Amino acid sequence: MTLLLGIESSCDETAAAVVQDGQTVLSNVVASQDELHVTYGGGVPEIASRAHVERILPVIEEAINTAAISIDQIDGIVVGNRPGLIGSLLVGVAAAKTLAWVLQKPLIAVDHVIAHLWAPQLSGVNIEYPALGVVVSGGHTSLLILQDPTTATCIGKTIDDAAGEAFDKAAAILDLGWPGGQRIDEAASKGEPLYTLPRPKTKGSKPDYSFSGLKTALLYGVRGNPKKVHGKMEFPRNANELSEQEICNWASSFQHAAVDTITKGIRTALAKNTVRCIVTGGGVLANSLLRTELKAIANEFHIPVYLPDPTFCVDNAAMIAGLGYHLFQNGHCDPLTLTASPKGTAS
Ligand code: KG4
Ligand code: ZN
Repeated sequence: MTLLLGIESSCDETAAAVVQDGQTVLSNVVASQDELHVTYGGGVPEIASRAHVERILPVIEEAINTAAISIDQIDGIVVGNRPGLIGSLLVGVAAAKTLAWVLQKPLIAVDHVIAHLWAPQLSGVNIEYPALGVVVSGGHTSLLILQDPTTATCIGKTIDDAAGEAFDKAAAILDLGWPGGQRIDEAASKGEPLYTLPRPKTKGSKPDYSFSGLKTALLYGVRGNPKKVHGKMEFPRNANELSEQEICNWASSFQHAAVDTITKGIRTALAKNTVRCIVTGGGVLANSLLRTELKAIANEFHIPVYLPDPTFCVDNAAMIAGLGYHLFQNGHCDPLTLTASPKGTAS
């Protein structure tokens, strides 16, 4: 039996988890910073790193206590050290290195984006490789070919906003609040996709993504075309002048356009690459329409699709510890000179 402690601090969630043999989650503690960023309508890097410093030790302590183990029963420490906000990542890396040194246990670093694709395995399934990895989160929209859990090649990604970021901005345009993805999903469930919005395409044959045009089309659709008044661009109306039903219809229209865009890239990737399954991860995988559409794609291509349990969609440390187990089994260990990087391995 192998017990690994996972630590995650790449963005604005401070998280620690204890996972047994890569798949059995004994504890999964996530301290969200949503309330600290809500007034700014998005994550503020400096606030995030300061909050990580305050929270990291209590979060690790709670993960150990909830797992009902003592810290010296841990066989190794796994940390997400890339990609992400550098100030945030460094907090998790410093905590992991300190624990590894004090406890004299192996230190293992993993890529946060690739770790998202371990999340479905936390529900006990085993993935067959090669697999098409689909990461759709607040920071990434990437299609990867995975030869094994850690060997990944990026075959397509967003050239501007990430899909989750587009959901968050769409919620702001519709005055639905922050974090936006969940609010759009809820509003969309009460609406119909009545409005026409673009399904943005990128140039070239790669399944790359672009979401900024969709976001602008929503803004103009909801608030009208802006006009110059006294040298300033002004919109003819505000979102709060629309009825609740109209807002829900816009949310539904946006959600359909965003999900169509994501699934189109997946179909292109599947037509060009031979894989044994689709494996998915990231906060946007909590989206109800995306989950339904992914199951439809799996049927169409006659391969299984593995979706993370909603608990493991957003940033968490259980996926970090899980992926670390794969490296631990192969005898991988990182040095205490480990540092963080804002850039990922394959995204
Ligand atoms: O994976 P994650 O925690 O962050 C990054 O690693 O970047 O994902 C957070 C993102 C946010 O942009 C949030 O709006 C989005 O996931 N999200 C959703 C839903 N729940 C969370 N997007 C669409 N529908 C949802 N139900
Ligand atoms: Zn993430």
